[in-house]
Amino acid sequence: GTVVLAYSGGLDTSCILVWLKEQGYDVIAFLANIGQEEDFEAAKKKAVDLGAKKVFIEDLRSEFVEDFIWPAVQANAVYEDRYLLGTAVARPCIGRRQVEIARKEGAQFVSHGATGKGNDQIRFELTCYALYPEVKIIAPWRIPEFYNRFQGRKDLMEYAQKRGIPVPVTPQAPWSMDANLMHISYESGILENPKSHGPADLYLMTKNPEDAPNTPDVLEIEFTNGVPVKVTNIKEGQSKDSPLEIFSYLNEIGGKHGVGRIDIVENRSIGMKSRGIYETPGGTILFKAHLDIETFTMDKEVRRIKQALSIKFSEFIYNGFWYSPECDFVRHCITKSQENVQGRVQLSVFKGQVYILGRESPKSLYNEELVSMDVQGDYDPCDASGFIRINAVRLREHHRLQSLADNK
Ligand code: ARG
Ligand code: SIN
Repeated sequence: GTVVLAYSGGLDTSCILVWLKEQGYDVIAFLANIGQEEDFEAAKKKAVDLGAKKVFIEDLRSEFVEDFIWPAVQANAVYEDRYLLGTAVARPCIGRRQVEIARKEGAQFVSHGATGKGNDQIRFELTCYALYPEVKIIAPWRIPEFYNRFQGRKDLMEYAQKRGIPVPVTPQAPWSMDANLMHISYESGILENPKSHGPADLYLMTKNPEDAPNTPDVLEIEFTNGVPVKVTNIKEGQSKDSPLEIFSYLNEIGGKHGVGRIDIVENRSIGMKSRGIYETPGGTILFKAHLDIETFTMDKEVRRIKQALSIKFSEFIYNGFWYSPECDFVRHCITKSQENVQGRVQLSVFKGQVYILGRESPKSLYNEELVSMDVQGDYDPCDASGFIRINAVRLREHHRLQSLADNK
C-alpha cells in the first residue's frame, strides 16, 4: 500500500520513512510549511534520497492564519487560562492537507511521528478520521516492533548510520521543540523537572524583555468581524493588510519587545500533567487587542454566553476535536457573535507587555452621554433605587434567617 507520512526532515521522521519502506510501503513524504524555520528544499532532497516515491512541500501559511488562527483570535481561545494553543491549532491544518494528498494519490494509509503519550497523535488522527473515514493510520511510536527497537536517540542514530540516513551534525538541544508561525513550544528533556528554569538561550522567537528596546512600538490594529484586517505602526507609518503579513508583522514586533512568553504545567488530553514553555508574540498582542474591541462592541449578555463557549472551543481544539459536530456548532455561534466586532485599537508594545491606549468603533455600544458623571443622558437615577431594593430582597432575607439561626 501507499502511505502519506507527515515528514519533518528530522531524525525521527527520516527513520520512520525508511522503516516504512522496509515494511513494504510506498512512502509519500508530506512536509507542511506552517511558518517554521526550515530548509524545505534540503528536506525535499533528503526525502527523495531516502526513497520517498513522491515529496509534497506545501505552503500552508496563509490558510493556517485565515482558517485556524483567526477563529482562535475571534474566540479568545486559551487553554487552562494561559496557553494560546499554538501547536493545537496547527495540527488540524496539517492533517487536512495530509488526507487531501492521500485521497488524491490513492493512498490508504497516513503516518506521523508523534509519540504515544502526547496530544498530537490524537489531533492528527482525529482530523484524519474525520476527513477521510476509510483511512488507516500507522503510528510507529505505538507499534511495539518499532518502539522496542528504537528505545532512545542512540538507537535512531545507529539505524540512521546503517541505512545511510544523514545524521544531524549539530548537537541536539536538550529539549524538544515544535515551531510554527503562531508559536514555538519547548518540552521534555531538561524541562521535565518542573522546578528547573528554562535557560535564557532557549527562546527563539522573543527577546528577553530585560534586553528589549527602551522605547515602545505603538500600533493600531483594525478589526472587522473580529479578525484583524490592518495593522499600522503609528510612529513609523508603515502598515500591513493581508492576513499572513499582519500576523508575521505582529510576531516581529512582539518578538522584538519580548511579548508572549509563558512557562506552565498543563493537563494533557491523555490524563498526565506536562510542563511546557511557549512563546506566542503576535498571538498575545492580538489576544489583548481583540478582547478590547470585543468588549467595546458586544452586548453584555451575549458576551457572557460567548465567554463560556470560548472555554468549550478551546478544550475541543486542545483535545483534537477541531473537526467535530460540537466544535462546528460552537464555532458558528462564535462567528455570529463577531458580526459587530469592528473598529480600531491603539496599543503600545513595551518590555514584554501590551498596553491598550484607546479604541474607536462605528459599532461601539459605549454611550459617553449615558455613562457621564456630568450629564444626565437618557437615564433616571431614581430608577436605580427600585433596582437596588429589588436585588436586596434576597440578601435581607438571607441575613434575617442567618440571625435567627445564630440566636438559637
Ligand atoms: N503541550 C503543547 C500542546 O499540547 C505543545 C505540544 C508540542 N508538540 C510537540 N510535538 N513537541 O499543544
Ligand atoms: C508528542 O508526543 O509528540 C509531543 C507532545 C504532545 O503531543 O503533547
